[in-house]
Amino acid sequence: MRATLLAAIAAFGLVGCVGGISSEGGDPLDSPDGDGNDNGDNPAGSDLSAAKMLFDTNVYPVVNAKCSGGACHSETATGSTVTRFVATDAAKGWQTATNYAALVGNYAASAAPILTKVKAGHQGKTYTPTEEANITAWLNKEVELRNGQTAPPPTGTETLSAATERVLSEFAGCMTKTDFDAANMAQAWGGMNANGQECDNCHATGGNGFVASRLSTQMWNIFSVKKYYFLQYMTVDLTGGAAAAKIIVNTTSFKGVSTGQDPHREHPQFNSTTNQGMTALNSLYTATLAKKAAGTCGAPRPLQN
Ligand code: HEC
Repeated sequence: MRATLLAAIAAFGLVGCVGGISSEGGDPLDSPDGDGNDNGDNPAGSDLSAAKMLFDTNVYPVVNAKCSGGACHSETATGSTVTRFVATDAAKGWQTATNYAALVGNYAASAAPILTKVKAGHQGKTYTPTEEANITAWLNKEVELRNGQTAPPPTGTETLSAATERVLSEFAGCMTKTDFDAANMAQAWGGMNANGQECDNCHATGGNGFVASRLSTQMWNIFSVKKYYFLQYMTVDLTGGAAAAKIIVNTTSFKGVSTGQDPHREHPQFNSTTNQGMTALNSLYTATLAKKAAGTCGAPRPLQN
């Protein structure tokens, strides 16, 4: 997979098109919930400082030690990896990390690439049991606060993380390639314009944490199989608690990049809410829910990490 990503980056001359990081902008933590943006990633509108504290204390040191480096995920990296989630300044560490959907997914430990990608095997990196427990505790706090689910779930009931896994599998079991094609997903996203370039110029094979390709089978085989890619398009609404968990269209992931918000400052800009891609995505979403309502879904199908 990695070879494909690098090949894609090379083929499309990506290196350099989203290059160094400039430093304009106001106080990075200047937003209602303190994470420096207003992209809808905190539907409950909670004060997130308890989660930030867990990240600052127990998680930043881990990612700073394991994921940083000039060829890897440092904010100042110069290599081909452009998901640069390790801020140089520890004080901005949390803000930078949480603004990469590619790192945090919906914050459920069962779906956040910070855990799932490493567990699935990534660059020979592993976490110690303590590190994994610390990252999990931080994610649990984020997912509780952001969804307003702060009361601990009664023993024996489903966790938010387990509910995420359940509804993702159910939705995947309902989703079909026929509906994907009828919704025009591949053409709409692959050919969508972002400031003079098209999404598939940079994302055709899943490079840079997102897949969009006009080749329908190529896009389907990534989008509908890999959790990480699916989550950029759709996410899990946990604001009603685990029992009411449901898949929704993800607008947060597009908002950050489309407006060039930190840390996506150099991403080509586009209208993230009204566009041909969202029309296709909503159409696929509606068709999939209709199957659920009609009871014509396939068996739940766990998405791959
Ligand atoms: C010139 C190349 C280029 C084009 C064109 C482009 N992107 Fe990106 N995109 C990137 C890079 C590089 C990243 C990784 C860095 C980042 O997250 O800002 C990225 C990241 C993303 C992410 C992941 C953000 C996250 O938080 O994990 C999404 C979603 C995304 N792009 C959507 C799009 C969409 C939709 C289009 C077309 C409308 C598009 N991109 C067009 C280069 C591009």
